[in-house]
Amino acid sequence: MSPLTLSPVWQALKAHQRTMAGTAITQLFAADPQRFRNFSLEFEGLLLDYSKNLVTAETMRLLTALAQERDVAGQAERMFRGDKINTGEKRAALHTALRGNTPVTVDGKDVLPAIRATREQMRAFSEDVRSGKAAGRGGQKITDVVNLGIGGSHLGPALAIGALASYADGPHVHFVSNIDPAALARTLATLNPATTLFIVASKTFTTLETLANAETARAWAGTQGRFAAVTASPEKAVAFGVPQEHIFPMWDWVGGRYSLWSAVGLPVVLAIGSRHFEEILAGAHAVDEHFRTAPLARNLPAILALLGIWYNNFLGAATQAILPYDESLALLPAYLQQLDMESSGKRTTRDGKPVDYDTGMVIWGATGTDGQHAFFQLLHQGTRLIPADFIAACASHYEPRRHHDMLIANFLAQTAALMQGDGAAFPGNRPSNSILLKKLTPRTFGMLLALYEHKVFVQNAIWDINAFDQPGVELGKKLAVRILPNLATNTPIADLDSSTRGLIEFYKDGR
Ligand code: F6P
Repeated sequence: MSPLTLSPVWQALKAHQRTMAGTAITQLFAADPQRFRNFSLEFEGLLLDYSKNLVTAETMRLLTALAQERDVAGQAERMFRGDKINTGEKRAALHTALRGNTPVTVDGKDVLPAIRATREQMRAFSEDVRSGKAAGRGGQKITDVVNLGIGGSHLGPALAIGALASYADGPHVHFVSNIDPAALARTLATLNPATTLFIVASKTFTTLETLANAETARAWAGTQGRFAAVTASPEKAVAFGVPQEHIFPMWDWVGGRYSLWSAVGLPVVLAIGSRHFEEILAGAHAVDEHFRTAPLARNLPAILALLGIWYNNFLGAATQAILPYDESLALLPAYLQQLDMESSGKRTTRDGKPVDYDTGMVIWGATGTDGQHAFFQLLHQGTRLIPADFIAACASHYEPRRHHDMLIANFLAQTAALMQGDGAAFPGNRPSNSILLKKLTPRTFGMLLALYEHKVFVQNAIWDINAFDQPGVELGKKLAVRILPNLATNTPIADLDSSTRGLIEFYKDGR
């Protein structure tokens, strides 16, 4: 057994889980009239109500003891101070420094001046574009921006711009991530090269999809094209033809899925302005400080993480639903899917030993109320336990308010129905967290994302896995590079399985 599963607290949690068998959440409410008060926390107007979970005070006591035993606080400190906690790639993981104001040293050098200089470069460039000072070729104002990037170089800014659409007062920002020619072709069909700015966002500047889309966009735009780049490989962006002054740096100590706070946020600054972008950073920073200083029992990201550990490792849940009751957060499930699954999809500990416990859960979800009319039936009455996070804002940016009240009535009804059930065929007892923001603003948006980043951190710290590398995705990328030339020729590929060979032949006949 591993040190984790051997630990007395882990064993105590297993024993405790057996005593909890048959407990109904409704009984826990009946036994404790103060359960909402006792199992909810508020931080700067963000409410986490975790009372509708299959937990008692003893469950939470044991879970926090587990976090203490695994030295989660010490591990967090090592992240914040710039230790090379990304052991696989021998790098620091300093997304928190991007939204902080204090010096942090990596390889003997303070990274804060470069962070500040990049923020200033983003501000100045965006103001020039937004004001019309930086005109497209031919002197016309830039009306459209196309972000060419994928994964962490796409989901964060796309989510942010969707979430904060009511703050948008800059150029219209489009996102093209997929290599499917439909994605770029449909976007370009609506645009004029003389008024369009392309941002090639790629930390490595080697990602096949992004570079192919950038090359096609460059051919489409011709001499009128205007390009900027966000990358940790500026020399490659220069070779592509991006002017030096329009290259925005990234650093190896920022993971792609943690990079919204870096120059990857440039499309956000263009759309909503640098003041609002700074507010996103400030919201995330406030949660960083909360995570760093609040005791575990009152620490929102830690509580979310520990509940996840409880369901995953002790109650057998394999998936977790993310259910924003907010159209503006439609991309949140996809964003959290990358954040969590790319971070937590690991089967060995940091020193390479196979784990003997489950790690990352499958993260999925969709907006409410749409999900209610599609997959909620299985949440309510299926055979599987699926913990769900319901997320909403108290105040909407949009009218009429009557609609928003109806939306929130559904949110409340679903969390109650999941818990209560309705008789023997519908026993309920399905857990959920309710996360309510006062309003979805740049600040609360930043808070929400940082909350989940640190949740993922705590879980990975307890599982002793590296949250910051992703070696698994590399194999598929390498195979794609091998297969591509064979789609252009008739050379048979001997060392491929018969299924892949058969599919290649069928594709060639059919294209
Ligand atoms: O394939 C996975 C991945 O490496 C992600 O981790 C990353 O966010 C994405 O590809 C894009 O990478 P890049 O920014 O280097 O183009």
